[in-house]
Amino acid sequence: MIAIASDHAGYPLKEVIKEHLEQRGIPYQDFGSYNGESCDYPLMAKAACDAVASGSCEKALLCCGTGVGISMAANKVRGIRAACCSDYFSAKYTRLHNDANALCLGARVIGPGAALELVDVFLDTEFEGGRHARRVNQIMEIEAENAKGE
Ligand code: RB5
Repeated sequence: MIAIASDHAGYPLKEVIKEHLEQRGIPYQDFGSYNGESCDYPLMAKAACDAVASGSCEKALLCCGTGVGISMAANKVRGIRAACCSDYFSAKYTRLHNDANALCLGARVIGPGAALELVDVFLDTEFEGGRHARRVNQIMEIEAENAKGE
């Protein structure tokens, strides 16, 4: 199950991604927004990323205007490794090397055609593990260390 969410700026791209996932037969859960009315990307990021963190969804696809704000919010949710990408190489290697579990896209930055290429490579690429697992674990240790101070 893929979690999907956007703010108002990302809403049109989210709808395109939903149609694409349907064509590919990939199940998704839509955490909003459900229309183009102004809303706050941190709340949308949290809703979708909580589902990934709890294990009810495997990965999240998040859209806002730039992809940046929603990625910042997503990376504050424990267990989330979100990558804001607008090129194919980054979307592929953030899976191979970072085991990213959220892809953030800027609907005002890239067109729907490029966005769907990024979605596909992100969903279809497995984590490479090996030396990269050590580094991903180090990222998660920083998060665990920060949580101790809470
Ligand atoms: C909304 O206007 C815009 O600020 C938001 O979609 C996003 O780009 C923030 O990073």
